Amino acid sequence: MGYKDVYESWKRDPDAFWMEAAREIDWDRMPSKALFDENAPLYEWFSDGLVNTCHNAVDRHVAAGHGDRTAIIYDSPVTGRKEKISFTELQARVARLAGGLRRQGVEKGDRVIIYMPMVPQAVEAMLACARLGAIHSVVFGGFAASELAVRIDDAQPKALIAASCGIEPGRTVQYKPLYDGAIAQASHKPEFCVILQRDEHRVELEPGRDHDWHEFQKDAEPADCVPVEGNHPAYVLYTSGTTGSPKGVIRATGGHLVALNWTMKNIYNVDPGEVFWAASDVGWVVGHSYICYAPLIHGNTTVVFEGKPVGNPDAGTFWRVISEHNVRSFFTAPTAFRAIKREDPKGEFVRKYDLGCLRILYLAGERADPDTINWAAGQLGIPVVDHWWQTETGWTITGIPMGLEAMKIKIGASGVPMPGYDIDILDETGKPLGPGQLGAVAVKLPLPPGTLPTLWNAEARFRKSYLDTFPGYYETGDAGMIDEDGYLYIMARTDDVINVAGHRLSTGAMEEVLAEHPDVAECAVIGVGDQLKGQLPVGFICLTKGVDRPKDEITAECVKLVRERIGPVAAFKLCVVVDRLPKTRSGKILRATMVKIADGQEFKMPATIDDPAILDEIRAALQTIGYAGG
Ligand code: COA
Ligand code: AMP
Repeated sequence: MGYKDVYESWKRDPDAFWMEAAREIDWDRMPSKALFDENAPLYEWFSDGLVNTCHNAVDRHVAAGHGDRTAIIYDSPVTGRKEKISFTELQARVARLAGGLRRQGVEKGDRVIIYMPMVPQAVEAMLACARLGAIHSVVFGGFAASELAVRIDDAQPKALIAASCGIEPGRTVQYKPLYDGAIAQASHKPEFCVILQRDEHRVELEPGRDHDWHEFQKDAEPADCVPVEGNHPAYVLYTSGTTGSPKGVIRATGGHLVALNWTMKNIYNVDPGEVFWAASDVGWVVGHSYICYAPLIHGNTTVVFEGKPVGNPDAGTFWRVISEHNVRSFFTAPTAFRAIKREDPKGEFVRKYDLGCLRILYLAGERADPDTINWAAGQLGIPVVDHWWQTETGWTITGIPMGLEAMKIKIGASGVPMPGYDIDILDETGKPLGPGQLGAVAVKLPLPPGTLPTLWNAEARFRKSYLDTFPGYYETGDAGMIDEDGYLYIMARTDDVINVAGHRLSTGAMEEVLAEHPDVAECAVIGVGDQLKGQLPVGFICLTKGVDRPKDEITAECVKLVRERIGPVAAFKLCVVVDRLPKTRSGKILRATMVKIADGQEFKMPATIDDPAILDEIRAALQTIGYAGG
């Protein structure tokens, strides 16, 4: 069956479609049906099934005789380490770690925060939680202590699993000050920590609180898989919203297993036993779905890559990893390709390696610009598929299902809706728009299995953020259009979320930090276009009356403050002082107009603007940092 037939078959009978997909999963108790809509517009999938994620990702492959196959390839150009872990070994490691956690009292439903770099132990920690039915929450290593603290307070974890350090170009990121700081700041205190000591930097363990990773599990009784209900949360992953408090996206177990398993063949076109690589980080949704869970559930080998696309040692690293490990499908963010293209525009490194194994390149996480797609397709000579999804959905909303059908790829579009997603483009009143018309991208409820059922501890926020604006729909927060052939074009966010090097960040959160600086009376942060990272944040601050310190000093303090409070990943380095901010007469800051000025785009003078002259001041300030034609 081709794409159209499969999509139609889903539309005709969604329950039958998903129950069929569910047969690929090993259930302890098969669910009686797929959709549970008793609490609409809140929906659940496979709620009365019983199942364990770790069993499906690890143990069942061993039981099926595939224990010798490689489950994880660890390739770390930043430390020079490489390791292959078979499914049998992974099972033993995960069962023992789970045993250690159980011995310390971690049980089904308890939360465990994981704060680790890209090492296989991060994946093992996730799977060990899944084995017990504990709910993990992985926090990206580039976030600062206060961001970790916010997550600790919201998730209330029994345990924290961390490493002693991460490795970034030119520096070792010491984790101890970060997790110590976070625990000190948080009102909730985890009962214990498990610390993976890395040779690059070892830390003092806090007596009574910290356990060494190896000692902790040395004599532990290996734990069996605990079956959980289909609607039991597998994990909570925090993501940026419009304010400083992140949203805890819940992933429910049954739908997660069924949907991710379905994607591996149908979208990514790999068969069990083949190598799949997503070059992302376990701290992001791409890492959850496509470094840890989906490949393993489907019986693929996954690559845990610790490094950057360039500089370790050169722009050929990705090609080396692909050819050395026989990668069949590869997934990364466009920004990685922009970084490579900048260093190696002629593709000299590409030609140093035999890339015959690679069939398809997938891009997501941010808008894929045509230049990057064309360069990648030209260099690699394979299809380059842009696909669009979000932390909230956990898997592709629109894309090209290459395993179903090698459909036409349209440059600039991020493909067609996957089964489960019925998309409309809506105007501000919620009226569906026709082909080619730009509006809010919304998905008809219910969302498919694997997507978020609600937010952790925040059902009212879930309804307000996603369900209330367009009744009957999930509001994606993206704007775009659909063409005559049904391809979706994502154009921009409709909220204050920006995308920096494929990392989702909140300008609202940065504004909250800037506003805390004693000399800042008012501020605004916008995302401006950047050739490498897609977008970069720029801060505008108005000083408190009477402050006469040098402006450079204050802006440097602001930059430092955002780095300390949100983390280096915010990439907040541009900050300017202005006298006033452009506003509507009702006092709303005209951020969208400021973005247009920065990016040198045409804009219509907002009818409600209070004082148009302020826009000239904004333009002049932007020019001092090289934007707005400066
Ligand atoms: N731990 C600690 N710090 C981290 C970190 C981590 N896990 N990840 C990033 N950082 C730091 C970086 O060191 C950098 O710090 P600096 O200001 O001291 O230089 C800062 O956060 C910004 O990082 P990043 O935006 O990643 O920029 P970069 O210059 O280090 O690298 C790219 C740029 C394009 C090479 C890089 O972003 C990349 O490879 N992206 C791939 C895309 C990706 O992984 N996307 C995830 C979603 S699919
Ligand atoms: P995240 O939750 O971090 O995965 O970020 C999701 C957001 O990233 C989406 O809402 C989009 O704004 C953006 N995004 C992700 N993939 C794409 C894509 N293929 N094209 C355009 N924007 C994308």
